[in-house]
Amino acid sequence: LFTAVEMAPRDPILGLNEQFAADTNPAKVNLGVGVYYDDNGKLPLLECVQAAEKQMMEAPKARGYLPIDGIAAYDAAVKGLVFGADSEPVTSGRVATVQCIGGTGGLKVGADFLKHLNPNAKVLISDPSWENHRALFTNAGFTVESYPYYDAATRGINFAGMLAALNAAPAGTIVVLHACCHNPTGYDITAAQWDEVVAAVKANNLVAFLDMAYQGFGYGLAEDGAVIGKFVAAGLNFFVSTSFSKSFSLYGERVGGLSVLCESKEEAGRVLSQLKIVIRTNYSNPPIHGGMVVAMVLDTPELRALWEKELGEMRVRIKAMRQKLVDGLKAAGVKEDMSFITKQIGMFSYSGLSKDQMVRLRNEFGVYGTDTGRMCVAALNSKNIDYVCASIAKVI
Ligand code: LMR
Repeated sequence: LFTAVEMAPRDPILGLNEQFAADTNPAKVNLGVGVYYDDNGKLPLLECVQAAEKQMMEAPKARGYLPIDGIAAYDAAVKGLVFGADSEPVTSGRVATVQCIGGTGGLKVGADFLKHLNPNAKVLISDPSWENHRALFTNAGFTVESYPYYDAATRGINFAGMLAALNAAPAGTIVVLHACCHNPTGYDITAAQWDEVVAAVKANNLVAFLDMAYQGFGYGLAEDGAVIGKFVAAGLNFFVSTSFSKSFSLYGERVGGLSVLCESKEEAGRVLSQLKIVIRTNYSNPPIHGGMVVAMVLDTPELRALWEKELGEMRVRIKAMRQKLVDGLKAAGVKEDMSFITKQIGMFSYSGLSKDQMVRLRNEFGVYGTDTGRMCVAALNSKNIDYVCASIAKVI
């Protein structure tokens, strides 16, 4: 039965974790996957999460099936976070939100729904994009192409190219956009450029799918989510996937969501009914624990304030590590101006290193980043930074 089955390549991001785990180098540093570690190199268990879990343990509940679309309070909290609890889309009831298995789950539920809705649409992702975007939309049955984004020559964004590609896209094309903290480059377009993107999406009748996996890691929750308001103001219907993996440090709980902004409450009801079919036929209904934790934190004012404080601390530490990386590389003898690292935002730095250099970093020094040169700055700390800088300096 399986004689013709070929060995698939390792996942370009999660596959690195397997390689890292098997590496016996005691100095190894994992800058591959997008995970935040504290200054002691530990994965944080946020205090707000611990407080919510304590409350849950004090009043233990049996675990029946959740509704197909998840915990109602969770879905409401996601809507509030994405659109604003008092915003017109939420109060008018025209947002369909479903709890999903992480941000990836939100993308896949949206992709499967879109495939039924418009099977011949093409998907455009940024060049480059999160490695899994292409694979996920391809596996959902779409032809995936890209729009220009990163400009290696200027270490910035080829915005003219991006806009031209959006303007050349046929009506109905699904455009995957990173709402903030672009993965992998760390370069976001400006507010004024977002206005132009929104106008192009509208003028060309494109379908925007905003991936918001890093809200709070750029400039703040409101600042990073501001782009949503621009799409709402333009009167567009669009998709938003949400992830709490990073912002709650709940990677393994797979807590995410999908929100679809519709024309009316009645339309949102029909869309929701279809999203539920996608979920039911894939994994039936989501798990309880992570969603309960997030809903409780977002709905309890003291816990929410604590979460925002803890999220802010993660954001500030990442920014400090960016500066330390720039200074450390200089001190380690790198002649090239690496200050672009502090202009990037979010968890990643697109270092500009080649695949060969990244492979050398891995094999000779146990420093893991992706082949594309992406490094997770959120995994740097005061103990590993010098080693990482010295290793990079040796391969440059
Ligand atoms: C990443 O890009 O490293 C993260 O989004 C984790 C993942 O699932 O790939």
